[in-house]
Amino acid sequence: MKERNPPHIALAHAYWRAHLSAGDIAIDATCGNGYDTLALAKLLLNHPDSLILGFDIQSSALEKTDSLLKQALTEEHLERVLFHRRCHSEIDQIPLPLPPKLIVYNLGYLPGADKSITTMTPSTLSSLEKAITLLTPEQGALSITCYPGHPEGKKEEDAVLEWAEKLPSERWQVCHHRWLNRGASPSLLWIRSTA
Ligand SMILES: C[S@@+](CC[C@H](N)C(=O)[O-])C[C@H]1O[C@@H](n2cnc3c(N)ncnc32)[C@H](O)[C@@H]1O
Repeated sequence: MKERNPPHIALAHAYWRAHLSAGDIAIDATCGNGYDTLALAKLLLNHPDSLILGFDIQSSALEKTDSLLKQALTEEHLERVLFHRRCHSEIDQIPLPLPPKLIVYNLGYLPGADKSITTMTPSTLSSLEKAITLLTPEQGALSITCYPGHPEGKKEEDAVLEWAEKLPSERWQVCHHRWLNRGASPSLLWIRSTA
């Protein structure tokens, strides 16, 4: 089916499709309006062992995500999406039956809501440091969408790239995608275990 999302999101979703298998666990670290959680749900929840954890600090975001999922998923699928209204820097506080195969960050603010409630560099970095240790050791991946078009987003993208550049190459493949002819357009960082 043709992807109608913006190009950075379409690319992220293509990576997820290629990376995830039936029975995997994934985490959406920034649920927002729920489009990414729904994309993960469609890829995973047909398998009874799959689970999705969803984080956001705003209850309005989790309500929007829940309502979007309710329009598209069965009751049984919905039971395997577990929401947490807390900062994603607490990502290591939730017990899981298996390590997650994919953790997704779509950074920034909730579109159409208060732009001052945005992901912030210190808590994003703290979350990423924890996330990379939580992943399935041999096949884990992180997908991080950055929005350098607003001041905190630019600071955050610079810090995330600096962090990612230092990951050991024998352990992690790190690829940054940016649309060069579109100004301060969103970018996508894909980090995957080399194993
Ligand atoms: C760009 S939106 C996410 C878009 C979403 N993935 C979608 O598909 O609609 C970013 C979200 O991150 C949330 N957020 C900001 N700081 C956060 C934090 N420290 N922990 C978890 N979520 C956070 C915001 O409330 C906002 O809803």
